[in-house]
Amino acid sequence: MDLKTLIREVPDFPREGILFYDITTILQNPEGLKASIDQIQAKLEGIEFDYIVGPESRGFIFGVPVAYNTGKGFLPIRKAGKLPYKTKSKEYALEYGTATIEMHIDAIKPGDKVVIIDDLLATGGTSKATVELIESLGGEVVKLVYLIELDFLKGRDKLKNYDVDSIIHG
Ligand code: PRP
Ligand code: MG
Repeated sequence: MDLKTLIREVPDFPREGILFYDITTILQNPEGLKASIDQIQAKLEGIEFDYIVGPESRGFIFGVPVAYNTGKGFLPIRKAGKLPYKTKSKEYALEYGTATIEMHIDAIKPGDKVVIIDDLLATGGTSKATVELIESLGGEVVKLVYLIELDFLKGRDKLKNYDVDSIIHG
């Protein structure tokens, strides 16, 4: 199934000049929802891993079903202040200002192999911070899979030496 045709392109969101790829139109379509999860999951064939990590919030949508289907646990990365137990934090740059993501300090044991799943690779800022957070806890990132990659933003360049895969290129 060609998922690209199910994306709704919204001009000038969240700001003028940005063409936003809206995935709600994929999620709303039963075949689109199934195909998006199946196609992400297919990228993990032959990969050995212990956990799926998904960054809040759109990473949850695709990460959890793949973890469920592959019989693995799911580790949420959350925006600052949401996780109840002791956390490790990582600040990263946005176009204007910074954001902070967090993970529970005991979510990952040294040597755990994790796969990161998110809906979108844009500048790569979120993913790079996610990788650094996982590695600071002793985890190993064995693969990163995205539903959409915006090639022109070159997020991949921030993830050299990692196995990066995407379903749709925009
Ligand atoms: C979006 C998207 C990715 C990230 C990609 O998340 O879901 O996680 O941006 O951009 P980057 O590669 O430039 O970091 P956002 O922070 O908007 O939050 P959301 O998932 O809660 O919508
Ligand atoms: Mg996100």
